[in-house]
Amino acid sequence: MKSLVTFEITDRIAWVRFNRPEKRNAMSPALNRRMLEVLDELEFREDAGVVVLTGEGSAWSAGMDLQEYFRENEARGLGAVRQAQREAYGWWRRLRWYQKPTIAMVNGWCFGGGYAPLFGCDLAYAAEDAKFGLSEINWGILPGGGATKVARELLSFRRAMYHALTGETIDGKRAADWGLVNEAVPAAQLRERVTAVAKVLLEKNPVALKATKDAVRRVAEMTFDNAEDYLVRAQEAANSFDNEGRKEGIRQFIDEKSYKPGLGAYRKKPRK
Ligand code: COA
Repeated sequence: MKSLVTFEITDRIAWVRFNRPEKRNAMSPALNRRMLEVLDELEFREDAGVVVLTGEGSAWSAGMDLQEYFRENEARGLGAVRQAQREAYGWWRRLRWYQKPTIAMVNGWCFGGGYAPLFGCDLAYAAEDAKFGLSEINWGILPGGGATKVARELLSFRRAMYHALTGETIDGKRAADWGLVNEAVPAAQLRERVTAVAKVLLEKNPVALKATKDAVRRVAEMTFDNAEDYLVRAQEAANSFDNEGRKEGIRQFIDEKSYKPGLGAYRKKPRK
């Protein structure tokens, strides 16, 4: 049986793919279970420093599978519905707090439930002609599975409301303009652009990357005072994992004068 999610690692970048192109990579319960296994497998591997999530074929993901996620589970009853929700929400939550930095490479359709892993990824790059939409309203439900929350997190109130109420699609260019993704580039250049961004991340201290990505997500819900305090604690906790990295960073700047932190990253020790 073919795997619903595939991955390969090239030059420390793990390319993870939704692999149900014939169903536009709609998220079925089986796909959700497989994705969690793949994320588990990659999370602490030494040979991968960045994870890219992309889709096989013309879609990134057409959202939840209307047949296998909704219809079949609803027919089985509430227990099955809740089970399927736990599995889907589970891997999205895992992604939001993933150990390694993550990049969504949106190659095509991205609908509804697809907004959850889109937001779960730390950065997002889209093909200019990719299409995004909160299509739920078009088939008679509200954008659940966190999709409404994602829209409010990433878009202005007016845009989120319009997007959710009309179900109209926007292309990658507009998605970049609205802040749903970092950037849109022509489809032919998408992989190259994402590779370049991943390489920038691979140069950084991995403990600092994890502390920083969590901090950016956490402080959104905090008062200024709480955020200041959290950031002090988070750095002190990071020090216990990597007390040498930042000292080396200070040393190369202050003593060695070999780089400027304002302009680039310090030299990490070569990996053994
Ligand atoms: N759930 C279940 N099946 C889906 C699906 C979904 N979300 N999205 C696509 N598919 C299936 C289609 O039923 C079709 O199956 P079939 O070949 O067995 O008939 C197959 O994938 C191809 O879809 P098709 O609609 O022919 O492809 P397209 O390229 O013309 O259109 C979309 C692509 C994404 C615009 C269209 O498939 C669509 O609107 N999908 C639903 C999007 C959505 O609302 N998702 C739910 C969000 S929660």
